[in-house]
Amino acid sequence: MASDRAIRIQEIAEEIRNCTLCELCRGAANPVPGAGNPDAEVMFIGEAPGMNEDKQGLPFVGNSGQFLNEMLESIGWTRDDVFVTNVVKCRPPGNRDPLPDEIMACGSHLESQIAALDPVMIVTLGRFSMAKWFQNERISRIHGEPREVGRRVIVPMYHPAAALHQPSLRETVKADMQKLPMILDAFKQKARADLETQQDNSQMKLF
Ligand code: URA
Repeated sequence: MASDRAIRIQEIAEEIRNCTLCELCRGAANPVPGAGNPDAEVMFIGEAPGMNEDKQGLPFVGNSGQFLNEMLESIGWTRDDVFVTNVVKCRPPGNRDPLPDEIMACGSHLESQIAALDPVMIVTLGRFSMAKWFQNERISRIHGEPREVGRRVIVPMYHPAAALHQPSLRETVKADMQKLPMILDAFKQKARADLETQQDNSQMKLF
């Protein structure tokens, strides 16, 4: 039976397929809501669909997706262990960068997906998704560094396409990927310890 999260993620996907909040929907063959496990603890957020994603309506199915799959495999994860989406759900013409008003318009969909999935860890792929949390940062400075934001840990990474275009980045991206399982475990452990402390403190107030 589908979980409540799975049902909500499907509802949001339907809203995205019917969305007309910006002009990108006019040129898109298929909006790309996102894919993967709706009960995942980890969400990856890329930039925008490219040509292959637009054809299939699925995220990261081209060369970047192939590299993402290889990297996931290197840490024992598959696409079924995570949820993958983008900042912008429709392909920008000619693969240009998404514009600020397109990112803003699509932001409500991403917010809904984050709220529904409620991931423990968000991995941003590239500068556009990084900028949602860290506007004035440079990816070259903070890639691979986990940052606690509210109840979640955010890990900025280079976009897989950057590593494909600049071979010198490949090892950096792979090394950042290797850290993810440890970051996730450490963050979950800390969250459990924080919860126990809170519970102890509230019990002490009773006496
Ligand atoms: N690049 C992205 O940022 N997202 C995709 O889905 C594919 C390529």
